[in-house]
Amino acid sequence: MKILVVGAGGREHALVWKLAQSAEVICAPGNAGIAQEVPCFAVNPMESDRVVALAKTENVDLVVVGPEDPLVNGLADALRAAGIATFGPGRDGAQIEASKAFSKELMAAASVPTPEFRVFTEAEPAKAYARQRFADGFPVVVKASGNALGKGVVVCDTEFEAEDAIRRMLVDRVFGDAGREIIIEDRLNGFEFSILSIVGDHNFVSLPIARDHKRIGDGNVGPNTGGMGAFSPVASVPAEMVKDAEDRLVAPILAALRERGIPFRGTLFSGIMTHNGQPFCLEYNARFGDPETQPLMMRLGAGFPEALYAAATGEVVPEIEVLDRAAVGVVVASAGYPGEVVKGIPMEIAPAPEGSKVFHAGTKMQLGRLTTNGGRVVCAVGTGQSVEEARACAYRAADTVNFVGAYRRSDIAAE
Ligand code: GLY
Repeated sequence: MKILVVGAGGREHALVWKLAQSAEVICAPGNAGIAQEVPCFAVNPMESDRVVALAKTENVDLVVVGPEDPLVNGLADALRAAGIATFGPGRDGAQIEASKAFSKELMAAASVPTPEFRVFTEAEPAKAYARQRFADGFPVVVKASGNALGKGVVVCDTEFEAEDAIRRMLVDRVFGDAGREIIIEDRLNGFEFSILSIVGDHNFVSLPIARDHKRIGDGNVGPNTGGMGAFSPVASVPAEMVKDAEDRLVAPILAALRERGIPFRGTLFSGIMTHNGQPFCLEYNARFGDPETQPLMMRLGAGFPEALYAAATGEVVPEIEVLDRAAVGVVVASAGYPGEVVKGIPMEIAPAPEGSKVFHAGTKMQLGRLTTNGGRVVCAVGTGQSVEEARACAYRAADTVNFVGAYRRSDIAAE
């Protein structure tokens, strides 16, 4: 099987690495790390026609679309219209991620447990609602409805923080159009975990659960990021809770999409928080999670390309082998992330320790030299028989990555 992976991040590097174990893989556009492993093509994923042309010229059997923006832009629709098997939902299905307002309304229609919420486009009523929730004893989370690279979620401790977040999104438009509409939802206090489900027309198969660390600082302080690290398995979430979440959060939302005539062949990412012993859905995404995918790919055995191909072609999705080991991913980021960062800083990566893999995210070759090219630069993944072993291995791997200003959390997977 020949597979084209679309994207340029750490998630795509991990997908390429896993798929290339049993398939021929090419990537567009890729990054410096991916280019060391498979042929990469300088095609912008937002230019659907060019991706279709590449898939045809290279005669691929399957296209796997990594990031959300090309999906929202209709890349999967264009590929399918050209008769190319594609793993990733069309523009309609991607709305589940592109519009949190759509997603929350779908959750309500499908009776999916989710925190109490309201949708706003005007600042003053939004502020009044937030003040009232705090006065009633319910702290809130303010979320941009559109895609803000994981940074558009503000968990508020006080009504003043909520008012500030509302102003920044609706008035100052710090997230541009992504913050034209906002969600204010009650803040739950529990354990978070993510389920990534491979969805086909007839069934879905979930990967082992993972947990990411969204805040920039140790101890979960500071602003949200795209994710500073992730690990799997998650011992604090029992198997019954995972089953419950699949039954009450994953299956009903897929049924609701089908009822609305929205096909979904791709990954449904369910971001979940436990509350009073029950799973609640915080968000859905229409793609593999980043950085969850990096450790998860190192836990998978045989059957991954076959599962994606089956989902893409309308066949029953087969089970995927899960290896009996833990994996932990530690993101190494540029100084200043999740704010402005300087790109183009020379970097070096020494050989990774056994059982680990450094997945590149924001990296680039410039004048023959490896340099940084973004906020999250690499995700160093370690494996082991336990999360503790995997964690030690991941930090040894992260130590091999050197550039000026390199930053990482020191408490990834330290539950
Ligand atoms: N790690 C969360 C996400 O991929 O959106």
